[in-house]
Amino acid sequence: MDQQSTSTPVVNAHNEWDPLEEIVVGRVDQTTLVPPWDVIMPAVVHDRTQWDFFKQNGGKPWPTSMLKKAERDLDAFIDVLEQAGVTVRQPEPYAYERALSTPDWEAASSCYALMPRDVLLVIGDQIIEAPMGWRSRSTERLAYRELCKEYFRGGARWVAAPPPRLSAESYSPGFAAPEEDEPQRFLPTEYEPMFDAADAIKCGRDVFIARSSCCNRFGIQWLQRHLGADYAVHEVEIHDTHPMHIDATFSPLAPGKLLINPERVVKVPELFEKAGWDVLVCPEPEMPETHPMYNCSRWIMMNVVMLDETRVIVSAGEKRFARRLKEWGFEPIECPFWDFETIGGGFHCASVDIRRRGGLASYF
Ligand code: NVA
Repeated sequence: MDQQSTSTPVVNAHNEWDPLEEIVVGRVDQTTLVPPWDVIMPAVVHDRTQWDFFKQNGGKPWPTSMLKKAERDLDAFIDVLEQAGVTVRQPEPYAYERALSTPDWEAASSCYALMPRDVLLVIGDQIIEAPMGWRSRSTERLAYRELCKEYFRGGARWVAAPPPRLSAESYSPGFAAPEEDEPQRFLPTEYEPMFDAADAIKCGRDVFIARSSCCNRFGIQWLQRHLGADYAVHEVEIHDTHPMHIDATFSPLAPGKLLINPERVVKVPELFEKAGWDVLVCPEPEMPETHPMYNCSRWIMMNVVMLDETRVIVSAGEKRFARRLKEWGFEPIECPFWDFETIGGGFHCASVDIRRRGGLASYF
């Protein structure tokens, strides 16, 4: 065998915890935009009092002071990764401010290249461009084109799930987000496959996915058929008034260790109990209620990145969570991130792991 065939493929990520070698981290720049108000926004923004902010500021850059603070956090995250010997790559900026249109709809602008986790689903040696449910984010994949071309040339598989039409038929007419005490309901119809990459989380041959404001059953079915018989895609039952992305809800952190959000997971899939996994219930967030949060909840603290089976990058303000992680056998590495979280995501959202050293296995 030659050297090439014995080394780890250029794209190789089977789970959240094999030793991390290369990662793509999003980009904060002065034209990082507030997502424009759109059909999906009332379904994903938890805090109703923020809706006017989005209606008035959608499509404009976030205030400079907020971007500066978010950038400082992102730089600290990159620093932690590089200190650990991880190669960090970043997307291209693109013309976020340009209006978008198709025969079915118009959007005032796109948003940013901030959250690669939502756009690219990396499974094994393949990169899947997700069929995202947001009109304003439907061209975000372009920010990653140079990287995808390079990874493809290096041997990776690269595919786009059918880009959704996102016409009126894609969204339930007159949708109103459920209240806490109401049964779960979701914005997308079953008109066409839809999911964001962050609606899914991988665990070797098993992939877990939750329906959300941008993920429907058709999308889950597409993913299962695309991945084929080597994988089982399991839907996780959740309750979330504004569901978007599984990684502040349900996260297999290491073999035998599943982190769950106590408010959102309705039922842990039976295979975890059968295989003797520990279910780690995330403690309450410590972020003060007064800390500004625009596009996600304080549970974003769960959105950690594993460097390997034990080392976990965790938001520096979340001391109680860091202590619990230690008790559970992890080594938390604290990194300031509350100011990045303000504009809509945690470490996991802000990155997508490209290469981890390890192979495809079953953990059940
Ligand atoms: N939608 C989730 C964040 C997902 C990364 C939340 O607001 O908690």
